[in-house]
Amino acid sequence: MREGKMFAEDVALDDIANAVGTPVYVYSQATIERHARVFSEAVAGAGIGDPLVAFAVKANPNGAVLSVLAKAGLGADVVSGGEMVRALRAGIPPEKIIFSGVGKSEAEMALALELGIGQLNIESEPEAISLSQIAQNMGKIARVAFRVNPDVDAGTHAKISTGKSENKFGIAYDKARAAYALARELPGLAAQGVAVHIGSQLTDLAPLDAAFGKIGDLIAALRRDGHSIDSADLGGGLGVPYDPAMPDPPSPTAYGEMVRRATAGWQTRLIFEPGRLIVANAGVLLSRVVRVKQGSARPFVIVDAAMNDLIRPSMYDAYHDIRAVNPSGTRMIANIVGPVCESGDTFAMARDIDTVVAGDLVVFATAGAYAATMASTYNSRPLTAEVIVSGDRYAVVRPRLSVEALIAAENTPDWL
Ligand code: LLP
Repeated sequence: MREGKMFAEDVALDDIANAVGTPVYVYSQATIERHARVFSEAVAGAGIGDPLVAFAVKANPNGAVLSVLAKAGLGADVVSGGEMVRALRAGIPPEKIIFSGVGKSEAEMALALELGIGQLNIESEPEAISLSQIAQNMGKIARVAFRVNPDVDAGTHAKISTGKSENKFGIAYDKARAAYALARELPGLAAQGVAVHIGSQLTDLAPLDAAFGKIGDLIAALRRDGHSIDSADLGGGLGVPYDPAMPDPPSPTAYGEMVRRATAGWQTRLIFEPGRLIVANAGVLLSRVVRVKQGSARPFVIVDAAMNDLIRPSMYDAYHDIRAVNPSGTRMIANIVGPVCESGDTFAMARDIDTVVAGDLVVFATAGAYAATMASTYNSRPLTAEVIVSGDRYAVVRPRLSVEALIAAENTPDWL
């Protein structure tokens, strides 16, 4: 805030809204860089050699954001051929790219081998067999890790928990040794590592600590079985503050200390896949109030952003702080909703916010991760524009798609 107005770095959000229109995502380059540096410093020195910090591209795949992270020296964790191409195009070298995902297609696996991707994290024996065949046909060796499901409750929202035995992810902990034994027999595969990721927006280190303990035991068992395991991918998952009224999640420094203790003696290189931590609090969704209407209990503030632009509140009951860009100093209790024709298009109920009227600008905070990337064109609303700010400069890094462009991407069959 400067003189009562909200800024992104040195640019007034009013100026961006007036020039680019709303809704629009606004990212701060300096904040992305700072988060990358803080996380890298927090894990520096853990494991053998330099850890690889591979940004989880799914959190924010915008090319400008990826370029910032490529320049900061980060690698990428990708989950599709599309994300692989984006990471490479942003200048992230292939050897710093990890290809994760529960359902990689044969074409995607072949592309990864073609492009020389650093490691494929595979999740089942059938996937290992399929990758072995592809690698053999191409005359390549696929460097792989098995993603192991440690059966640990991450204590986060059910829709973003991945490390319980009933979840679809990874290979069951007690089947892992057999999977490595199979991989050793399969031509074209080099099982060099172990991978784990138990969930996202974790606000307690204990489940991660428990999972890493099990991974340490597994690495020791695999070595006794004669495998040479030289890397351990500890996934992402560290939570970020969304609600100022809630205690802050553990800091990257506390996470780094836990990792150092949990992995002492592993003798492996470490890989990390942070997504949210790097970008969530480097972005806001800037939106304009369309109108305020009285509801039976309290007013509805109808904004021009909707669930298609930011789905997290309706999908995970997620909390995003909502603030006026030019606060008047008074407060109101209101329901904040979008224009989409669904009751689920609700950002907040009975929220204490700055008093706003039609035409005012608001931001949804902590909207740099899993936000623009999860947008859709539901209700034929063109995808939201994205802007990156650096000091007193800003650039539109994804222009708002026009309705014409949306329609032009479709075909009408000749019988209609
Ligand atoms: N590695 C793997 C294998 C993952 O599946 C994920 C996230 C990450 C790393 C990055 O996790 P992070 O550090 O960002 O927590 N759309 C949901 C979050 C889904 C997370 C999916 N996997 C949300 O908006 O909360």
